[in-house]
This record gives sequence, structure tokens and C-alpha cells, in this order.
Amino acid sequence: MTNQNKVWVEEIWCKIQKKLTRTSQEIGVAYPHVSTDGKFDDMMKSDICWWTNGFWPGIMWLMYVGTKEEKYKTTAENIEKELDKTLCSYEGLHHDVGFMWLTSAVASYRITGNKESKVRGEIAASFLASRYNIKGKYIRAWNGDNKGWAIIDCMMNIPILYWASEVQNDDRFKFIAMQHADTTMKNFIRPDGSVNHIVDFDHETGEFVNTFRGQGYELGSSWSRGQSWAIYGFILSYIHTQKQEYLDASKRVANYFITCIGGNYVPDCDFRAPSQPIIKDTTAGAIAACGLIEIANNVPEYEKKIYLDAAINILKSMEKEYCDWTTDEQAILTMGTKSYHDINGRNVPIIYGDYYFIEAILKLRGNNILFW
Ligand code: GLY
Repeated sequence: MTNQNKVWVEEIWCKIQKKLTRTSQEIGVAYPHVSTDGKFDDMMKSDICWWTNGFWPGIMWLMYVGTKEEKYKTTAENIEKELDKTLCSYEGLHHDVGFMWLTSAVASYRITGNKESKVRGEIAASFLASRYNIKGKYIRAWNGDNKGWAIIDCMMNIPILYWASEVQNDDRFKFIAMQHADTTMKNFIRPDGSVNHIVDFDHETGEFVNTFRGQGYELGSSWSRGQSWAIYGFILSYIHTQKQEYLDASKRVANYFITCIGGNYVPDCDFRAPSQPIIKDTTAGAIAACGLIEIANNVPEYEKKIYLDAAINILKSMEKEYCDWTTDEQAILTMGTKSYHDINGRNVPIIYGDYYFIEAILKLRGNNILFW
């Protein structure tokens, strides 16, 4: 990294610390999701099973790693205990247990060695493994009638299976993760490097049936957050398994993503949507930046610059245009989008945008964190 970029990273890290010193007090033990009029909501009051409920404790752990300030650890640990209500609800659980417990209990165990946290992570991993469809070799998404649905996002859940195999010294979990990753590689990534959001398999025979639009603009379009889940998800699978095809898959989607973001570097919500209305998704940029940094860490020297420069360009552009460092707003990153067709969820600050933005900055600072 150039000296100029190193200075920039430190400047941003100072701004993050200043902001979180305040917002960690204001928000406290809660599950923030979307910010409206400068204040985050709290899913603890409305949906304790919501898939994003691990990101605030995750931010607290990131801040603890970066600062070693006890207050962040305490808040993270208190939220982790709250999440036990969710873990015990069972019926409310879904494929996103990876997102929820990797950034809470598993992060806690990795940092503190707390045995209770380890058990929480193991329960979440066992639950995720139980959603594996043996015929189709995929982990099913959501609950309800669509037993054949799998989604690209789930590439970010399977790291909890790699972690469980490691701590239990038992490859069962890893086998399931790799089968799911192989199925995803084969059925989700299109020849041009873009990805499908939802693939439907026949849940009895395991045969591929169809693809569905999901959170993007239309069937066959290119939901940018889906692309970024693929970039980060496949490089993580490579890191955990060293299977070359996963690195190649991550690079293929990354190369496509870098082409699509063009000179502005801030992704639209969908790369194949009409130019108007303008619907950005900074969360996709932050997630992709994390994945691109990890690709840069895992390719030969002569390739590193392509991916590291792309990550830095994305983060810098988003910071310049869309970070709010004022006291009027609790979130850092504005202009995230939940889903293209969710009119109220467009161009809003979303908690996982902040989570991945902070994670990317810490990676660039050399804080060796990999919660996934
Ligand atoms: N995992 C759901 C989303 O990306 O919105």
C-alpha cells in the first residue's frame, strides 16, 4: 500500500473510533438494522431472529480488536447472551445462523476463548448442517414451502461449518460446506462472472429446476450485493480449504464486479437495472472490498495490486461521497439498499454496510481479523 493510502486508512480509523465512542453508548445492547432520520431501529423489539442481528456485536468485536477498550467487549458479550433467546427459539432459525453467530459467539470465542461462546457457535453450526439437502448437495435457504431454494448469500454462512470442523477436529461440517460451495459454483456463477441470487432445485431428486430474481432488478439481472457475497464467500472457502477452484471463482466474480463499478467505484444496487432511478448499494461495495483485500492476500505478487487497488478505490469513493461522520447520524455509511424493489429500503444506511466498512479498514491497517 502507498504511504498516502496508509495515511488515509489511519485518518478513517480515527473517524471510526470517534463515531463509535458515541454511538456505542447511544445504541448499547440492541440489534440495529436500518437508520432513519439519523437513528437506528432496534430489531430486539420487533424480530429477534432477523438475519442482521449479529452485525452490531460484530462491530463491537471489531472495535475491541482495534482499540482493546473493554466497553466494546462488554457490550458484545451482553448482546451475545441476548441472542440465546434466538438460538433457543429453533423455529425462528434459518440459513443465516452463520451471519448471526460468526460475528457474535464465534468472534467471542476466537478472541477470548470463552467456552460458552464456543458451544453457541457449535449449536449454530449443527443447525446449519441440518439444513443440508443430501440429494441436491445444497443448504436450503429460508423456511416455508420453498424446500429447493438455495441462495448466493449462503456462501457467507458456511464459514461457521469450517470453524466447527476445526474446533471439533471432525471434517463432517467441512464436507457439507464444500459440497454446498461446489453446488453454488456450478449453478450460480454465470459464464460472464455475474451470479444468480436464487436457484431452485428439486428437493426430492436434487435436480436443478430454475433461477429466481431475488433482491435484484429482474430475472437474469445482476444484484450487486449478490456478486459481493460471492466474491467474499468464495475467497473465504479458498482460505479454509485451499481448493484452487474457489480462488478462481472468487476472482472471476471480482473481475466482473470491478468492470461493472467503472470509474465511480460505488456499486449500483443492480448492475443491469435502468440508469434511473439511481439506486446505490454501498453495502455491496463494503462487502466486496473485504473480499478483494482477501483475494489480494492470496494471489501471487504480480496480481495483488489489481485487487487491492480496487478495494481501496471503492472504500475511498464511498467514504468521500457517502460516509456521514457528523453527530446527526448514527450510521457511518449511507446509501445502502435492502432490495431493489423495496421502495423504503433504498438508499438508506444499513448496519452491515458499517460492519464490512469497518472490517475492511481494519484489514488495511493490518489488524489480522477474520471472523468468517
Ligand atoms: N442476506 C440477505 C441480503 O443480503 O440482503
